Amino acid sequence: MDTPARDGGAATGVRVVEVGARDGLQNEAARVPAAVKIELIERLAGAGLPVVEATSFVSPKWVPQMADAAEVLAGLRRRPGVAYPVLVPNLQGLERAVRAGADHIAVFTAASDAFNRKNINCDIAASLRRLRPVVEQARAAGLALRAYVSCALGCPYQGEVAVADVVRVAAALAEMGCDEISLGDTIGIGTPAKARAMLRAVAQAVPMPRLAVHFHDTRGQALANVYACLEEGVRSVDASVAGLGGCPYARGATGNVATEDLVYMLHGMGLETGIDLEALVEAGRWISGKLGREPASKLGRLKQVRSEKVRGEE
Ligand code: HMG
Ligand code: MG
Repeated sequence: MDTPARDGGAATGVRVVEVGARDGLQNEAARVPAAVKIELIERLAGAGLPVVEATSFVSPKWVPQMADAAEVLAGLRRRPGVAYPVLVPNLQGLERAVRAGADHIAVFTAASDAFNRKNINCDIAASLRRLRPVVEQARAAGLALRAYVSCALGCPYQGEVAVADVVRVAAALAEMGCDEISLGDTIGIGTPAKARAMLRAVAQAVPMPRLAVHFHDTRGQALANVYACLEEGVRSVDASVAGLGGCPYARGATGNVATEDLVYMLHGMGLETGIDLEALVEAGRWISGKLGREPASKLGRLKQVRSEKVRGEE
């Protein structure tokens, strides 16, 4: 099986990791039926996304929106060549995920003790102790593994986060055996120079091909942050269709960089993604319709106004 750091985008391309069905839908107040989640994931894979994070096997007491994880995974018609990672917080989550047929998992912690206590009920050190057997068992079972480091550019509870803490946590996850480490600006507080400096520091400890970036767009900085990190050499970027998302334990955080807007920029830079932009925009409009709102992506809104202008001829 290809590891997340190897599948998808080539040297002249960028691997876009779609997180809308998880990061986005974990944050919706209204219940989204499993059938809608499944259709969203299938539309995204159909649009050419190489990685579509499908759901999360966290405690339903903590995130009721993801209580249907097994149903979603079981109901999915998986496309060959597409990876469908699922979030797993502990051994119980791993066991549920494997029973439901997951072959790719994503573990998560943060560079902030304060955020971890709110989000996963333990500090950084305890979270790494908790994750080690999860990673070991996942590897032994041949699962692909990605890991998230939240609060890489700031924390809603602690404030500033030292770059050294981001490096330390990312290095620990890489050493444990996670194939890819995604550096998350959970609350969209970073700006490009800070994002670049953080990535450069982490890349001293974990090789760039094993790193991804994950920007929330709370302050409108996400695309600029991605651009700075592309210049720094990253080639794996997380994004959320229609800009869905947030974290239920980071109040005020909004969605990730919108996949449509990201792909538009990447194609404009001559970076291949393998993604059909029109089909992606359509998927974003479709899920936004199901949620009763307009897409947060610029492209999704543009298409509603002038449907003939999605390919970038504006
Ligand atoms: P805890 O309460 O300390 O755990 O929560 P516990 O082991 O004491 O379990 C409490 C109850 O939950 C028990 O049930 C367990 O069985 C059950 P009870 O005995 O009371 O009936 N439980 C589970 N049930 C199903 N699946 C499981 C599971 N684990 C426990 N896996 C825990 C600790 C980590 C479980 C909890 O805090 C949790 O689930 N947190 C997840 C929060 C979350 O999902 N946040 C959003 C994802 S992170 C994110 O969005 C950031 C990211 O996008 C990157 C970025 O933007 O930075 C990734
Ligand atoms: Mg996130």
